[in-house]
Amino acid sequence: MRKLAAGNWKMNGLAADLAEVKALIAAHPAPSCEVLLCPPATLIAQMAAARGGAPLLIGGQDCHAAAGGAHTGDIAAEMLRDAGASHVIVGHSERRGDHGETDAAVRAKAMAAHRAGLVAIVCLGETLEERRAGRTLEVCAGQLAGSVPDGATAANTVIAYEPVWAIGTGLTPTLAEIAEVHGALRQALAQRFGAGAAGMRLLYGGSVKPSNAAAIFAVAGVDGALVGGASLKAAEFGAIVAALEAA
Ligand code: 13P
Repeated sequence: MRKLAAGNWKMNGLAADLAEVKALIAAHPAPSCEVLLCPPATLIAQMAAARGGAPLLIGGQDCHAAAGGAHTGDIAAEMLRDAGASHVIVGHSERRGDHGETDAAVRAKAMAAHRAGLVAIVCLGETLEERRAGRTLEVCAGQLAGSVPDGATAANTVIAYEPVWAIGTGLTPTLAEIAEVHGALRQALAQRFGAGAAGMRLLYGGSVKPSNAAAIFAVAGVDGALVGGASLKAAEFGAIVAALEAA
């Protein structure tokens, strides 16, 4: 299993910010892990051009479930692929929260990703209220069951555990808490998909920084990270890539 350092630029990034991508590639021309950046859709084609022949993967941040049609403002998975993407994030908590996306909607988007030949990065995670109520494992298992389609394989799907309360806050679960959730997710995947899911990557996301990356990557069951704020600058994301390479 190759580990994966994924960056989610969210609603950040103009053409001028492609300089960060070039700096990242220059500093890490041949990483031993997979490196993925998910810029806003407006930058996918330009980022694909900027990467040249470098092994940088590019992804979208969301897709519509349909392949095309009357859906103003939405983007089909096929369009992301056409622009140069190989991956797409689905079910990010900001999509679930801002746009009311349900597990069923996320599952349909993951199926659309697979239909288009994209790797779906399915996000899930508990709120602070749910963690305080002792419901973390139940909530995450429920989202996994509802959001991951039956056709998921290690090749076409990545799971990202992102506690909602850890995103953009500087807070993270303890290493033991991360290990507990990743262990439970791995077990649920094995029960549902058998040996075929053994290689499915489980990323941790939520306030991953250069300062905590090595410790998080040393946690059993963490196969990489989905990084928000710290993925915007080549120096910070590069340090996280280096920590994953060393893990
Ligand atoms: P931060 O790394 O900014 O906390 O964001 C995490 C995230 O939501 C990645 O998808």
